Amino acid sequence: MELKVLSLPEDKRKDKFTDESKLGFGKIFTDHMLLVEWKTGKGWVDARIQPYGPFVLDPSCLVFHYAQEIFEGLKAYKWSDGTIALFRPEMNARRFNLSAERLCMPQLPEEFFVDSIAELVRLEKDWVPGAEGTSLYIRPAMIAVEPVLGVKTSDHYYYYVILSPVGAYYASGFNPVKILVEDRYVRSVPGGTGEAKTGGNYASSLKAGLEAKKKGFDQVLWLDGVQRRYVDEVGAMNMFFAYEDRVVTAPLNGSILSGVTRDSVLKLADHLGFKAEECKIEINQLVADIKAGKVKEAFGSGTAAVISPVGVLGYKGESITVGDGGVGNLTRKLYDTLTGIQTGKLPDTFGWVRKIA
Ligand code: COI
Repeated sequence: MELKVLSLPEDKRKDKFTDESKLGFGKIFTDHMLLVEWKTGKGWVDARIQPYGPFVLDPSCLVFHYAQEIFEGLKAYKWSDGTIALFRPEMNARRFNLSAERLCMPQLPEEFFVDSIAELVRLEKDWVPGAEGTSLYIRPAMIAVEPVLGVKTSDHYYYYVILSPVGAYYASGFNPVKILVEDRYVRSVPGGTGEAKTGGNYASSLKAGLEAKKKGFDQVLWLDGVQRRYVDEVGAMNMFFAYEDRVVTAPLNGSILSGVTRDSVLKLADHLGFKAEECKIEINQLVADIKAGKVKEAFGSGTAAVISPVGVLGYKGESITVGDGGVGNLTRKLYDTLTGIQTGKLPDTFGWVRKIA
């Protein structure tokens, strides 16, 4: 697919951030974006990098009413020698197409997904922050833009990519968060869209999230949608629990997201001498194991949050401290190893890093 580049003259570009420690998450955006359209009978057309700016869309567009939408999240890192690298972008390309398949949207050539992002990031390389814990967050998305109110798959889509220089996802940084086990609302059910990265999953999670916040928790831990008995995921992260010599996470059962960081943690934990297991985690057993001191550490994994230590689990009105409530050794080791590989400070033993500039 041919990619046109319509770049802004230097004097029209925005002022860049001056303090990398104040970036926060997803609040500022770079000068350019990528946009490609798909139309029935034509396929992908008019791929271009253009100045970042609002879309003018008909209020009747399908995405506004029936949420035919998918997205991805990945990051570019600036190394101390100036190299810019992506982390496992082909995994995001593959997952984007799995989400597209579930939402009846067109498949995007995976090579184009990766190469066009590389080209956009190269154009915006001065926007990639380099301070510890910062990166350029890349948000690809696809929306249904056909203006019609009948419930149907769209005849017209926008695939677009925007870029945001970011710091830590949680305002608390790399400090333990408090997670509430949600035993009333559910995120997904077998046969639903839990495995797809689609906006609706996040919209339907907001109510539980707000109620958890009122109770002093940062996020909710979802249980399976049928029995509310087995651990699923946190929405913005997959969850891991570390015992003495093994680390466990929920299996990919069709209801949880197949996280790129989740997959990386499984491989790294194994490499670090832990038995990494994907297994059903029964909530009452888990709580008993935490109380008995058998579960030493808990942490979430995700592109935005990287590795996020979990200090407290709330369940049925009780707040249960995991380990000593601080950042565990394995959690720190995994964070350091993963970010070390991503930022070129540690060797890329697994072939995960793709240098693009
Ligand atoms: C990511 O880690 O990229 C996510 O999807 C979390 C996001 C919803 C902020």
